[in-house]
Amino acid sequence: MRIVFLGDIVGRSGRQVVKDYLPEVIEKYKPDFIIANGENAAGGFGITEEICKDLYSYGIDVITTGNHVWDQKGITEYIDKDPNLLKPYNFAEGSPGLGFNIYETKNKSKIAVINIMGNLFMRSCDNAFFKIEEVLGHIDKQKPNSIFLDFHAEATSEKMAMGHHLDGRVTAVIGTHTHVPTSDTMILENGTAYQTDAGMCGDYNSVIGTEKEGFVGKFATQDNKKVRLKPAMGEGTLCGVVIDTNTENILANRIEQIKLGGQIGLWMAGHSKFKNIMYRKGAQDKKRASLFSKISKEITVAAKLGAPDPEQNARLRSAIQLAKANSFPKDNIERAIKKSSEKDHINYDQMRYEGFGPGGTSIIVEALTDNKNRTASNVRTAFQKFGGSLGETGSVSHAFSHYGYVRYDKESLEVSEEEFFNKAIDSGADDCLLMKIFLRGYVNQMSYQIFIIFFKKKLESQMLRGFNGSQPVK
Ligand SMILES: [Fe+2]
Ligand SMILES: [Fe+2]
Repeated sequence: MRIVFLGDIVGRSGRQVVKDYLPEVIEKYKPDFIIANGENAAGGFGITEEICKDLYSYGIDVITTGNHVWDQKGITEYIDKDPNLLKPYNFAEGSPGLGFNIYETKNKSKIAVINIMGNLFMRSCDNAFFKIEEVLGHIDKQKPNSIFLDFHAEATSEKMAMGHHLDGRVTAVIGTHTHVPTSDTMILENGTAYQTDAGMCGDYNSVIGTEKEGFVGKFATQDNKKVRLKPAMGEGTLCGVVIDTNTENILANRIEQIKLGGQIGLWMAGHSKFKNIMYRKGAQDKKRASLFSKISKEITVAAKLGAPDPEQNARLRSAIQLAKANSFPKDNIERAIKKSSEKDHINYDQMRYEGFGPGGTSIIVEALTDNKNRTASNVRTAFQKFGGSLGETGSVSHAFSHYGYVRYDKESLEVSEEEFFNKAIDSGADDCLLMKIFLRGYVNQMSYQIFIIFFKKKLESQMLRGFNGSQPVK
């Protein structure tokens, strides 16, 4: 079995580097279980329910913590509801949350994860060496296949002592809390995997993950004022270990350090900075390709349903606007329009599904597809997944009207507002709205925009351009 452990995730940089690089770790190592220390995940101090959920969505199975576990509001209530979020076991008796637990891994074996805090130079808590015996007493009865300890402590001596104390009795003892990875990755004499500190997942152009200027200033000026220093926000490095366990007993076969990305990422075989960039770029390119194919489809369908000239086809005009906003190449726009007149191009159908969401809400889904059966089944699954159901045609559509709008910038009007509204009514508008909105791309720049609203069918048939001498925005 293979376990991946990540050191203290610090602030946004830490969360980002885990999000960016954990997929690569999973692809390369194919771990059966992933544990991460999340005690500094929320702005350097503590963790929240939302962050726990994000970390689980990246593939982390269990989150351990440390002295910062209670720093965020609401966590004392949340930890009792989440058996995968651990606090140090030797905290005061009666404090909420679990200090150890047993989980099933992807390969169906049992792993015990323990979180304990050190006593040297740490806030007071029960003796770590006594308490670990208590935990092992509980765990041994349940016969797990492996036992992992996150020993959250400051002193290297205390951590090494714990490693040797448990050598041969647990799978791994890995230290956290100092936020600096040590290079003493090893299998101890009796088979326990060990590293004094896994290091943090966070920005290393910092002092232990905190903005360096503030921290250096504290030392340089001997300033004892208690000020909360902000976490460093630069590119993070992901730090952790991969441990292979023995199938016959709870001991470890192999331990390897992982350091990826950012300031101290290693140039290991298959883990060069170039590869990291390539991996990220690959993911971005994939997203872009899927967006481009959607835009291209929309242009072809819009051109097919109406005229191939954007001047006379509002849907095509807005598809082209979307294409331009996303740097979709001009040649591809022309090709997509041309495709609409080709006989053998794939036929896309526009489908409309009706259904009910949670609490009986009415939902209409519009989809563009080259395979109606596949899309119907995907839409049905999506409804079911979120507690809704797909309905018959006509089951909710009576509650909806199909509107479209043309937007004008108020500044561009060449006639008075009243005259403009009169003309809108003459051309069949169903409503006119004057709204103050933020202009995209500008901070604090407001603009008055006029939305002329039409029933969709009417909109298609109206000659709206030049209707007042000014150009519609959209
Ligand atoms: Fe920490
Ligand atoms: Fe800590």
